[in-house]
Amino acid sequence: MNKAIYPGSFDPVTNGHLDIIARASSIFDQLIIGLVSETNKKNSLFSITERENMLIEATKSIPNVKVKIFNSLLVDFAKKNNSKTIIRGLRAFSDYEYEFKMSLMNRNLDDSIVTLFMMPHQSYTHISSSIVKEVSFFNGDVENYVPKYVYEKLKEKIEAK
Ligand code: COA
Repeated sequence: MNKAIYPGSFDPVTNGHLDIIARASSIFDQLIIGLVSETNKKNSLFSITERENMLIEATKSIPNVKVKIFNSLLVDFAKKNNSKTIIRGLRAFSDYEYEFKMSLMNRNLDDSIVTLFMMPHQSYTHISSSIVKEVSFFNGDVENYVPKYVYEKLKEKIEAK
């Protein structure tokens, strides 16, 4: 079975991530979404369980997608899941430097694992989880950028603050 890993912090998952998930799941037998539980990013808005639930809900119609939480090196997570492919989305030129360094480091850690870059649809190239959170925080409309379930959860979170 040809498996790929799509890793990220998904705080929260956006339609841009889902676009990559749809593309990747159409070319691999199984796509494992690797939800990282610890990052060096500052405070996340959603807990790990909330992020996991949002991912499960958003991908429930795609049968060959699984969500798994990990807290290790990405290459070790890939090996543990018998995957030789890491999928990353490239939205704009600004992503390139960070992604380039990360893929080279991963290659140095394990040369048998390949990073595959995919471009999301152009209507999502300007969005990120942080931008979505900031716009919602100031009551801007992000309905077109996140799945409905995430949109509701974002509203609840912001109202509770
Ligand atoms: N559409 C919309 N937004 C997208 C996107 C897409 N297609 N692809 C990425 N993004 C955004 C994310 O929303 C996120 O935005 P934010 O910074 O505003 O939150 C940003 O791009 C990048 O986040 P993400 O894709 O979640 O990756 P990350 O930078 O948080 O990295 C890991 C996560 C899991 C890849 C990385 O931390 C990792 O590998 N951790 C394991 C430890 C390890 O092995 N470290 C060494 C790696 S060399």
